[in-house]
Amino acid sequence: MIIGIPKEIKTNENRVSLLPVGVELLKACGHSVLVETNAGSGSGFADDEYKTAGAEIISTPAEVYKKSDMIIKVKEPLKVEYELIRENQIIFTYFHFAASEELTKAMVDSKCVAIAYETVQEKSGQLPLLTPMSEVAGRMAIQDGARYLEKLHGGKGILLGGVPGVEPAKVVILGGGIVGTNAAKMAAGLGARVSILDISLERLRYLDDVMPKNVITLMSNPANIRNEISLADLVVGAVLIPGAKAPNLITRDMLKLMKKGSVIVDVAVDQGGCVETIHPTTHEEPIYEIEGVIHYGVANMPGGVPMTSTKALTNATLPYVLKIANSDFPQIAKVNEEIRKGINILNGKIVYKQVAEAFDLPFSNIDDIL
Ligand SMILES: NC(=O)c1ccc[n+]([C@@H]2O[C@H](COP(=O)([O-])OP(=O)(O)OC[C@H]3O[C@@H](n4cnc5c(N)ncnc54)[C@H](O)[C@@H]3O)[C@@H](O)[C@H]2O)c1
Repeated sequence: MIIGIPKEIKTNENRVSLLPVGVELLKACGHSVLVETNAGSGSGFADDEYKTAGAEIISTPAEVYKKSDMIIKVKEPLKVEYELIRENQIIFTYFHFAASEELTKAMVDSKCVAIAYETVQEKSGQLPLLTPMSEVAGRMAIQDGARYLEKLHGGKGILLGGVPGVEPAKVVILGGGIVGTNAAKMAAGLGARVSILDISLERLRYLDDVMPKNVITLMSNPANIRNEISLADLVVGAVLIPGAKAPNLITRDMLKLMKKGSVIVDVAVDQGGCVETIHPTTHEEPIYEIEGVIHYGVANMPGGVPMTSTKALTNATLPYVLKIANSDFPQIAKVNEEIRKGINILNGKIVYKQVAEAFDLPFSNIDDIL
């Protein structure tokens, strides 16, 4: 199989979808790898390292797409990339379709095989390709949230951990999954008072067991959310309903309950966000203010720490890349349920229910197509 690695073009996205060692392993299995010039430079990997590992360096994205059977990316294709994608070409990347009808329709029209990292799912229900980036984003949410709480950056001027004799800040985390747990660990480690709200009692029991004493757990319901955000200095949005748009847990009206100069970091913005007033922002212009509350909505947070993120991502994706490359498509989709669950669009049809429902578009059963 010919595998293509284009350079990411989303604003300030410095990650790359494959390390030189990934090239080496794919070559050892008999595949060819085409890497776009400078694809890895933002993560600290030079073209020469890819060349030494056995890749061919290609100067234009058009050529990479044209020659490749499978494209491996990090972020969803952008408008200029839509027309480069062709029928039956496998595109393996984060898509987050439920957040963009335009992208969904473009991939349907292209008739490609869209395998979304975020919906590849293990039998246990775990999302193995979302996990590493959620770990990074959860930890960053506190690092970035702390920065925007500083006066110079528009915040109320409060130190997360306080100091002896001065109380620490209060951090409220909506959703106690991977993002929420990593955010809680960081915030608690810095000495903040932390609450985690989730709808899963089982998850709350687990968190209550493993978290330190400055973390409390609460059932997620409108009354608890209203009360908690009115006391919060920093709110982290970390909910997920796999493949679907995030539920709106903080409405525009509820913002009035929050303290001026407090900060919301809505990590779930890539699934539409769990705060009504959030919209996607970039690393260049990460924040804006509504009702005196700072909103941070960077949709590709891990892109800000590419050295860490690229390694964390490719540690998780490479085994799946090898599985897809080493067996003919659609055979792998028939025998491997984890990969089958990753397929969102196939043969111009939407085969992931929540994506079809998000835009009221027709849904097709993947087994009928395979
Ligand atoms: N912005 C970024 O750069 C970035 C990076 C990584 C992940 N994410 C996003 O962060 C979000 C969270 O990811 P995750 O890996 O932690 O997911 P996860 O599945 O591990 O956790 C989600 C949690 O949300 C809980 N939940 C669902 N509905 C809820 C509700 N109404 N109230 C409270 N909790 C609720 C679930 O029970 C679960 O525990 C996703 O949207 C993911 O795409 C964004």
